[in-house]
Amino acid sequence: MRVVPDDGYRSARLVLIGEMPAQHEEAQGRPFVGPSGGVLAKWWRDVGLQRSDFYITNVVPYRHNKANKVESVPWDERQQYVEELHDRIAALDDPWLIVPTGNTALQALVGKTGITRHRGSIYAYRDRRGRIIKVIPTIHPAALFRTPYWEKRCIMDWRRIASDVTFRDLRLPEREHFIKPSISDLQDFYEDAKQRAKCLVFDIETPRKKLQMQEGVYKSGKRKGLPKIKTTLGDARITLVGFSFESHFSFTVDTTLEYWRDEQQLKEAWDVIRLLMALPVPKGGQNAYAFDVPWLLEPDYACPVTNFLWDSLCLNHTRDGRDDHAMHYQQSLYTREPYHKDEAKDPDEMSKWTSDLDQFRRYNGKDCCVALDLIDEHLSYLGERNRLQFY
Ligand code: URA
Repeated sequence: MRVVPDDGYRSARLVLIGEMPAQHEEAQGRPFVGPSGGVLAKWWRDVGLQRSDFYITNVVPYRHNKANKVESVPWDERQQYVEELHDRIAALDDPWLIVPTGNTALQALVGKTGITRHRGSIYAYRDRRGRIIKVIPTIHPAALFRTPYWEKRCIMDWRRIASDVTFRDLRLPEREHFIKPSISDLQDFYEDAKQRAKCLVFDIETPRKKLQMQEGVYKSGKRKGLPKIKTTLGDARITLVGFSFESHFSFTVDTTLEYWRDEQQLKEAWDVIRLLMALPVPKGGQNAYAFDVPWLLEPDYACPVTNFLWDSLCLNHTRDGRDDHAMHYQQSLYTREPYHKDEAKDPDEMSKWTSDLDQFRRYNGKDCCVALDLIDEHLSYLGERNRLQFY
């Protein structure tokens, strides 16, 4: 067993965290000098970075077994290495940006899992000296040998990293999400949109209704004889309609009776939503042409959308037909909004919507602002290249 020491100056602004040395690293006693290092070197050249810009470290400091599987390192030993990693970072002079590559490094540094979701996002890490350091995770270069089509997103991440290391702050979008409107707030928003909107983005949420069902009686146990209440899922329905026409502001309308408390108020809310959707201004949204527009046309809502023009999913398809089009992926490439899709999920049951309604409403507002940013970005990209005609 040979420990591979960290490489680079303690004064480096950039810190690269790998997983565990492989064969070449073990042989040469330096991190990232094998095939993974070769891939990184190529990307760094493309974006104007070089090896000497980095302090390079690994979570596990030696090659554990011939299979290069970090999972074979015992859990408590790995935990020990995570502790040491945080200590090593705290010993650095003044790092500005840390790049964890792959799941092991991401989890060790910030405790998040799912590198494909979190890559390209901008996070803050508080080190053991209390310093706040910017973090931009990316995919481990070795993953490219299995999944070559991820190269575009890796290069985009490294482009962001090269640019973000020139400043310390996170520069995240500052947005206000207005989530509990009264009817008069909604009317004011309508007047404002009528006067000022150049593109009105909207997004609906359609969670299934949670139903409490009585399900027979307990057959065993101390509480024998008590009715058992089971939560089950009923029909999907529109519970939120969000809007944005400025990147820094969203307006979300709850469309449930639970929110408005009486039928008349709910009807008035829908009347104003219909007026908003009937404005002549171009409308837009992410996947809204296939999803939101038909939902709104359902007889329960009877809310046609006038002049629906810009769909960020379709615009992204026009931009690069071979790429993925999910919003969280597009946002990681073209906006500075960190990954937020889990904010709508129940943390205990990730497949269900969160029961924290305010969080759900803010999530909806964020989606609207991000879709607007994406539409702006795609329109200028395609416009500059005379390619809007293909949309
Ligand atoms: N992969 C890693 O995670 N680290 C290295 O040093 C080399 C390959």
